[in-house]
Amino acid sequence: MTWAPGTVIGPVSVGPPAHGGHCVARVDGKVVFVRHALPGEIVEVSITEDAHERYARGDAVRVLEAAAGRVPAPCPVAGPGGCGGCDLQHADLATQRELKRQVVAEQLRRLGGYEWSGDVESVPPESGLGWRTRMRYQVTATGQLGLRAHRSHDLIELPEQGCLLAHPDQPVRTGEYEPGCEVVVAGRGPSSAVLVDGEVVEGVATIVEHAARRTWRVAANGFWQVHEAAADTLVEAVMTGLEPRRGDTAWDLYCGVGLFAGPLVDAGVAVRGVELSRRAVRDASRNVPEARFEAGRVEQVARRWPNRVDLVVCDPPRTGVGKVVAEQVVRRRPRRIAYVACDPAALGRDVATFTASGYSVRSLRAFDIFPMTHHVECVAILEG
Ligand SMILES: C[S@@+](CC[C@H](N)C(=O)[O-])C[C@H]1O[C@@H](n2cnc3c(N)ncnc32)[C@H](O)[C@@H]1O
Repeated sequence: MTWAPGTVIGPVSVGPPAHGGHCVARVDGKVVFVRHALPGEIVEVSITEDAHERYARGDAVRVLEAAAGRVPAPCPVAGPGGCGGCDLQHADLATQRELKRQVVAEQLRRLGGYEWSGDVESVPPESGLGWRTRMRYQVTATGQLGLRAHRSHDLIELPEQGCLLAHPDQPVRTGEYEPGCEVVVAGRGPSSAVLVDGEVVEGVATIVEHAARRTWRVAANGFWQVHEAAADTLVEAVMTGLEPRRGDTAWDLYCGVGLFAGPLVDAGVAVRGVELSRRAVRDASRNVPEARFEAGRVEQVARRWPNRVDLVVCDPPRTGVGKVVAEQVVRRRPRRIAYVACDPAALGRDVATFTASGYSVRSLRAFDIFPMTHHVECVAILEG
């Protein structure tokens, strides 16, 4: 069975959520990943892609029987054919968190061999809007700010009120840029910057953030947790899970500007950090002068570090830490490892590696720091 893009099929009975912001349906023996639908709904699906023998992709374009959690999307450009940034605006926040709970549990069970029975915790603001302190826009052919459609280079112009996820104190001006440019808006209020194709054109070159009872300097184009409450939320989860003791040693792997090194130092721990970005390492050294930071790849730097460490924090990009880094960590037999994960699939694979080396999951918390999208952040505490 093959469908041309644009073919509308249905009625389709929608099954469980799958990782990636869609639900699974089965039509004539083929899996269809349906966006903008909810489990239990009956919908009509417009096929967007059918390039594989075993599965196709589509958007729910008409809801024949709605689930209880369905709500009208707050943003006029969310939904089928619209902006690709938000996958879940058609669900209330409790339903969004339940979908993410199911995805995290399924990824951990299937890839990590770990049965998780927790919930996805909400993070203020309760509206799930206005939380993004970093935005990346593309400029449309008419000079307007836009965002990409899902799995496409097509640009969707921002609605009149702007992106509803953007923090209300972010400076945004539209209609002023060359078509084809990339415009990044970082920070908020007086500590914010607008970058065009990587160059700061307005605001400050270094953003100042406050979190974990410290002040942080971050390059305008550098990494900082995107949700306004994420830094405090993740630090609390990591520190509660690690239970550091005065005099411990710790590694902050993928340390950025030192977000986890700071509170560890404040708890009387001697910290080494490693991070790929040289500029982030310079900022980390100023933010947390008590810790030692090195620029480079974790894979190459950590292998030169001492043979013993008490605690390790890993906060890798979406690909996870992988076997090489996991093996360097477990060889030092740390008492506890805090793994901060933005991709539950990578977390599942890495949990399997750590548990095969004699570690067990002591706790696992998930946080809704990307509301309206399918993304979710987890903090796993592993114990040796
Ligand atoms: C998810 S961010 C976490 C940053 C920091 N822990 C924080 O919360 O602000 C991941 C960081 O890993 C860095 N990175 C990516 N690949 C790396 C590698 N192979 N070795 C070291 N750092 C890496 C990125 O530059 C980025 O700063």
